[in-house]
Amino acid sequence: MSKATFDAPANIAFIKYWGARDLEHALPLNPSISMTLENCSSRCTAELLSDGADDEVWLSEPDGGFRRPPQEFEERVRAHLDRLRRWAGKKEKFRIATRNSFPSAAGLASSASGFAALTLATAAALGKEASPAELSRLARESGSGSASRSILGGFVEWRSEGEDSHAVEIADADYWDLRDVIAVVEIGPKAVSSLEGHRRAHTSPYLKTRLELLPERTERVRRGITERDWSLLGPALEEEAVDLHLIAMSSRPPIFYWSPGTVGVLRAVRELRQEGLNAYATMDAGANVHVICDAEAEDHVASRLESLSVVGFVIRDGVGSGPEESPQDLF
Ligand code: PMV
Repeated sequence: MSKATFDAPANIAFIKYWGARDLEHALPLNPSISMTLENCSSRCTAELLSDGADDEVWLSEPDGGFRRPPQEFEERVRAHLDRLRRWAGKKEKFRIATRNSFPSAAGLASSASGFAALTLATAAALGKEASPAELSRLARESGSGSASRSILGGFVEWRSEGEDSHAVEIADADYWDLRDVIAVVEIGPKAVSSLEGHRRAHTSPYLKTRLELLPERTERVRRGITERDWSLLGPALEEEAVDLHLIAMSSRPPIFYWSPGTVGVLRAVRELRQEGLNAYATMDAGANVHVICDAEAEDHVASRLESLSVVGFVIRDGVGSGPEESPQDLF
């Protein structure tokens, strides 16, 4: 095959990747656990070019047009193409186009889905078959470590040990019908990249405590999922979200991802729980709040969040079954 297109989903971490033992290879300090999303995804088309050409990287627009990506993103894509060529033992250059299904203005992490889709489309265009474990490892090496989790569907654990650290599925997408109602309180790119956040995590005096607490919290999340037990999953999920931000805020120099809207949504989520709903909040390296809830609670959660003046708009998502090859090439 010389041209291939893949859709890869975004994921929301219940236990976060924050801090690396080897940042260049995205080898994490701790295992992380996520839910693969269904609607928020990236599509990538990779085509092999004939001899003498150079790699081309394009962002595909909803109107069918193309534009050049920001320089930093383009450099990361080119470096990943070099890595994939080395892995495949090939020299061919590529034309790459990529597009997100979700509004890029929402400030949601698109690097996990983007680099997962790039890995899958490029490997397929090169005609290379590989196991999910190997593809997950390759996606991790893109430098966006969380991309390793976007290779799999359902509920996913990215194991931290070893040089071949990769993600595995711990329960499939049908196992538990959870929903992710995303309250968008801030648009635009985040001020400090997660890459810089990983780097600064080591300067927080609380990182040591975080690493001591994590094994027990991670086990609660694991069991919460496998036993479908909100009393285990819910509190651990919120503790973990606050912990990531505690490390960010106590890094040197500090990183404040929260906005007043974040705090407003966190308060509304507490009220929803007082009304008897299973709804718990988590945030990645940004101000927007992912509210994880039961399918029956989704409408109620979404309308409450929409009614808050601090919320711009709400995106609804659920558990997805992982990446898929697409018959619709971007070019
Ligand atoms: O994969 P990266 O380097 O973009 O880091 C992801 C960081 C978080 O989204 C905050 C946490 C996570 O595990 O997804």
